[in-house]
Amino acid sequence: MCGIVGIVGKNNACKHALNVLKNLEYRGYDSAGLAFLKNNDLNTIKALGKLNELKSKFETLEEEIKDVLIAIGHTRWATHGKVVLENTHPILSENIAVVHNGIIENHDQIRLELKEKKVIFETTTDTEVIPHLLSISMKNTNNFFNACVSVVDKIEGAYAFAAIHSSKEEIFVARKTSPLVLGLGYGYNIVGSDAQSISQLVNEVIYLNDGDYAILNKTKIQIYDTNNMKVEREKINIKSNYNILSKNGYKHFMEKEIHEQPNVLINTIGSLVREENELNIFPEKMNIKKNYGITICAAGTSHYAAMVGKYWIEKFSSVPVNVELSSEYRYRNPATSMYSSMIVISQSGESIDTLMAMREAKRLNLKTTAITNVENSSIDREADYSIYTHAGPEVGVASTKSFTSQLIVLLSIAMKIAINNKKITIDKYNDFIKNLKLVPNFLSKILSLNEEFIKLAQSIKNSQNILYLGRGILYPLALEGALKLKELSYIHSEGFAAGEMKHGPIALIEEGMPIIMFLTSDGMEEKSISNLQEALARGGNIFLISDKKNLKKIHNIQNKVIVPSFQENWNDIFSPIFMSIPAQLIAYHVARERGTDVDQPRNLAKSVTVE
Ligand code: M6R
Repeated sequence: MCGIVGIVGKNNACKHALNVLKNLEYRGYDSAGLAFLKNNDLNTIKALGKLNELKSKFETLEEEIKDVLIAIGHTRWATHGKVVLENTHPILSENIAVVHNGIIENHDQIRLELKEKKVIFETTTDTEVIPHLLSISMKNTNNFFNACVSVVDKIEGAYAFAAIHSSKEEIFVARKTSPLVLGLGYGYNIVGSDAQSISQLVNEVIYLNDGDYAILNKTKIQIYDTNNMKVEREKINIKSNYNILSKNGYKHFMEKEIHEQPNVLINTIGSLVREENELNIFPEKMNIKKNYGITICAAGTSHYAAMVGKYWIEKFSSVPVNVELSSEYRYRNPATSMYSSMIVISQSGESIDTLMAMREAKRLNLKTTAITNVENSSIDREADYSIYTHAGPEVGVASTKSFTSQLIVLLSIAMKIAINNKKITIDKYNDFIKNLKLVPNFLSKILSLNEEFIKLAQSIKNSQNILYLGRGILYPLALEGALKLKELSYIHSEGFAAGEMKHGPIALIEEGMPIIMFLTSDGMEEKSISNLQEALARGGNIFLISDKKNLKKIHNIQNKVIVPSFQENWNDIFSPIFMSIPAQLIAYHVARERGTDVDQPRNLAKSVTVE
């Protein structure tokens, strides 16, 4: 989603702003722009498409604007209004420029009011009401800061914005729900959509609280809370992780992130398993209570992780689990008398649907636990308790290592609740921890099957429709496989529980349609294989991804990739983690074969901060 940057007090401000925008590219965008002050004149540079387009325009002016000390910039992910230059931020009104992330929900109403005042709109964005309101207010007050505060009072929705006025080298910023971070430099100050993006320029950051607004000049930052009171917020030291953000010789970030999963999971597991073989998870902080259940809310891939988590938690601890899409939970007046705890799962920690679901749960008096990859993200900061996945920055829009690390955390939660509630023996618990530590190494073995998935990808790359099947604990993997494939390759794909095929989806099968099934030996494999035979009989082109144990049972399936079997008692339990690798590799290689933009697929954003 949109990325915001603002820099005040630093020479070559536009160049630095461009670099920050580059670091925010992962969020997804379709156009970008800069506004800056040169001799008290407001100027803009805007371009459609990738940042390179903006960079080329900037380079033609670079010498001329080297001494510019104040700039704001934006990568736009269109919500209101088409991807055209007029709608590209910064949006101007007279000598004011604004960049904005989120949605101004009452923009229609404000637009009408402004039109009555003869204001002429030049864009179809919701954002444009902000600079116009500021202009009008400036005429009345001649005070930029007061004008901005009056606009904050007027606009509704979830947003973050930054504004500048040509008369002064200062930046006004405000945030409600959408993220915004201030960075403290030596003789300059910065604002960005996340801490990582500005970490090359500053060592200290301040996270604005929800509803905060602030004014920045080159030496000073003044923050105000929702009651318009001056406040101090904690300064946090950050270290730049940007050397991690290289592709390390891989063609795409996604490819790198798939292959680094063994190392990532070593970190995740290391953070969960204490030296004395104890899991660093505290069900008491999660408010897990006898006779009460847990609701898990998440979106996209994180939601599929939640579905797997339900299987594990209910299987081992017998605590009832209700899994919901965050975007549905918030608005459906959920009955919560049976639930004492909510877990939210979010890689970015910024998905607005999940943040809002968590706020709703808080309002309903549930204790909230966040499983997130980003410390100090909005979700982390608002949750009662957080467990980090420690997957490191994930740049590819498609979730890969964040998914497997979420699964590790969920399975560990299941086992910790189970041992606390005396649902499993201490031997079983210790055996789990012993086997958990073997997972990273085992993932490397599955990754070594890469060539087989390339071949599989080559044989399905021209298909128009592809089905994914799974049963039991692998049903969510069928959904995840289909999501990965559709978002990366733009091939229509759907995931189904194998047992559901006969209730409708089987009608879709026509001669040659690829059907990819994930299979593990979980006691239900015979039933899954029968479902597969039904699809085969109707002309489906079956691709089976199965563990070795099923080899004898699947002799009549021609296209198969056999993944090694894990430790006897744990093979099916860990299978969703293992099958994630084929799901990811298939989607990756199909996309690569088709030449799509793997790391930044069309229309998608890494951090979904609008509803
Ligand atoms: O950051 P989150 O985990 O909250 O993001 C949730 C979804 O937007 C995300 O998983 C999305 O579905 C990915 N593009 C899937 O690859």
